[in-house]
Amino acid sequence: MEKTAKGFSKWSKAEKIEWVTRHFFSDPERAKKILTDWQRSEAEQKILDGFTENAISNYTLPFSVAPNFLVNGKVYAVPMVTEESSVVAAASSAARFWLERGGFHTEVLGTVKLGQVHFRWYGRPERLQALFGCLKERLRCCCEDITANMQRRGGGIRDIELLNFTHLEPHYYQLLVSFETCDSMGANFINSVLERMGDHLEYVFETEPGLADDERDVEVVMCILSNFTPNCLVRAWVECPVSELEDLAQTAGLPGAAAVERFCMAVRIAHLDPYRAVTHNKGIFNGIDAVVMATGNDFRAVEACGHAYACRSSQYRSLSHARIDNGHFCFELKIPLAVGTVGGLTGLHPLARLALEMLGNPSASELMSIIAAVGLAQNFAAVRSLVTTGIQDGHMRMHLNNILQHLGASEAEGAAAREHFKGRTVSFSQVRTFLEQRRAAVQSNV
Ligand code: MEV
Repeated sequence: MEKTAKGFSKWSKAEKIEWVTRHFFSDPERAKKILTDWQRSEAEQKILDGFTENAISNYTLPFSVAPNFLVNGKVYAVPMVTEESSVVAAASSAARFWLERGGFHTEVLGTVKLGQVHFRWYGRPERLQALFGCLKERLRCCCEDITANMQRRGGGIRDIELLNFTHLEPHYYQLLVSFETCDSMGANFINSVLERMGDHLEYVFETEPGLADDERDVEVVMCILSNFTPNCLVRAWVECPVSELEDLAQTAGLPGAAAVERFCMAVRIAHLDPYRAVTHNKGIFNGIDAVVMATGNDFRAVEACGHAYACRSSQYRSLSHARIDNGHFCFELKIPLAVGTVGGLTGLHPLARLALEMLGNPSASELMSIIAAVGLAQNFAAVRSLVTTGIQDGHMRMHLNNILQHLGASEAEGAAAREHFKGRTVSFSQVRTFLEQRRAAVQSNV
């Protein structure tokens, strides 16, 4: 078949580009030029190409900064990587707003990471439970060469539990292992430990004297960390007297407390209606993902975990809460965040390293706090807009810049378009018509 490739991963980058552009583009030369233009210098490219297989170019996103984030009394300029035009502006505006109202407060509620060894065992459950007492210690010991370093840093295996799921699936058990991985996200460490435990489990049942035949039969199905880490949890909150939220009231054209109450109702709606909750939480992740990305962490893991946590009551709900207590507004976010500040991409990607340096090389717990504060800020900005001006105003102002850029507008044309579209609806075709008419007018005046 013409469009399939054999041994593709072994080809040189030039061969891959040649093949892809020849088979999948109507103008291979143009595609080749774009792919080549977005490459870095040889040394930098070598680092990037090392991250994945079959890299043929770079997909670049803006690296932005949201200044003025006061978190637990310390001011941060927060690095954010996102393509969504209004996200950094919204985070910066909320950071500035809360800077004058005591800033963001956070509390790390836990840093426990989890992993599982899933296995089948054919003996009686009570017998396995009885054997587990000494098995547990042996499982811990068999990993000592892997865990020694982590233990020196204050981490390692915290506990091993045996869970019986035979009521759901015949012969199915699980070792649920909890870990402390200090400043690293710890995925490789956890998976190495689990695979060692899986091997050891098989070895023990094969070699242990005094077991009946059916008790020797163990089958390890898989060993893998769990990205659901509900006890790697951080709480972030902001608070102030309702009277200090006057400008929220003004933009809503409402009396003070009524605007804040409307804000709280918007958050309550995201607790009772999953359709709203998903969009509400998506707004939170606009901020969270951007910092997770900038610092070289795994945003898919953070997202998957956050959404599972949002479902912990069996219904998908808002991750944030808002309330007014005795004239005091309190807005908080509780979210599991398994992130690291050492190891993995954090040390390899030059911009991830720089992002962490910008944050003062934080510990993983400090990074959890910063990220949660940004998520809360993002949510505050979104809900504030939604219950006052609506989001399209700010959104479209940023979107206008993208359209102008796409249409190759000059500085002067951009300024004229921004002036023209103030208070008007922005659409791609309207901006194009505006530019065409302006260009025609300029042409006829020459
Ligand atoms: C857009 O990316 C995010 C929002 O829709 C979030 C929300 O509705 O809360 C504005």
